[in-house]
Amino acid sequence: MTVTQHNILSIRDMEREEIDRILASAADFKQGKGTGNELSGKILAVLFFEPSTRTRMSFSSAMMRLGGDILNLGSVEATSIAKGETLTDTIRVVSGYADAIVLRHPKEGAARLASEVATVPVINGGDGAGQHPSQTLLDLFTIQENMPLENIDIGLVGDLHYGRTVHSLAFALSKFNNIRIHTIAPTGLDFSESLKMDLSEVGIELIHHDDIRDCVPELDVLYATRLQKERFPDPVAFAQYTSSYRITPELLELAKPSMIVLHPLPRVDEIDPRVDSLSCAKYFDQAHNGVPVRMAMLSEVMQ
Ligand code: CP
Repeated sequence: MTVTQHNILSIRDMEREEIDRILASAADFKQGKGTGNELSGKILAVLFFEPSTRTRMSFSSAMMRLGGDILNLGSVEATSIAKGETLTDTIRVVSGYADAIVLRHPKEGAARLASEVATVPVINGGDGAGQHPSQTLLDLFTIQENMPLENIDIGLVGDLHYGRTVHSLAFALSKFNNIRIHTIAPTGLDFSESLKMDLSEVGIELIHHDDIRDCVPELDVLYATRLQKERFPDPVAFAQYTSSYRITPELLELAKPSMIVLHPLPRVDEIDPRVDSLSCAKYFDQAHNGVPVRMAMLSEVMQ
């Protein structure tokens, strides 16, 4: 690791000051305040070992909007990983080709492992059921666009066991004042006991609800997630959970007029498409905020 290497691996590692700096920088980029040349001459290596639309494309878009270039690993089958090359050897080699690496990998801890052998900054683009810090930063940014990030009630609904976005977000919220987190998850898909203990240690006491209708009236933010089908060990177990929770216009009639609905996307059937036209639906704004937030992150680690 070089002295200047600045990784973004987990929101748990980030100080509140760094989060605030990135959110402020993202707001500037969103208002068009950048020059478009901030990362001219720099190269971002994009290594995705799991499917992605938003994270991969918005990191690429962000790099291009800063005047930099992209080096895309492409499909794993077309690389020497298919011949048995290890992740660590791949990272060592790519470190010589690029100025930063964004990595998505199905194994929890992969980004941290990569950072130990990389000689350029590593950004975690999602590691298994672990962390997804760039998603969390854009989630915080989207909340902050709609309300102050303090003294609010946030409901996390869906697959809280395998969903990395809610893990990252819950830890991030512990860094803000007077946030209450409500959880609504199908049986067996709640936060793990160890994660609950870790959250308790950082001051987050979760308020669990069996029925989503009990908590919607209290919420300022309703954050829905899909069932992470690819992480279920057993397809039969997955089938029993389908359509457990669905956000509908009828459910949202119970909400405060100011409540917003977020979702990291992709959605499957957790949000009725009729919700899309309601003013509370902010999930496409949220996805679009990926570009300015990732511009801020890339500037933070490469400038
Ligand atoms: N929210 C998110 O990570 O989306 P992708 O899997 O499409 O990148």
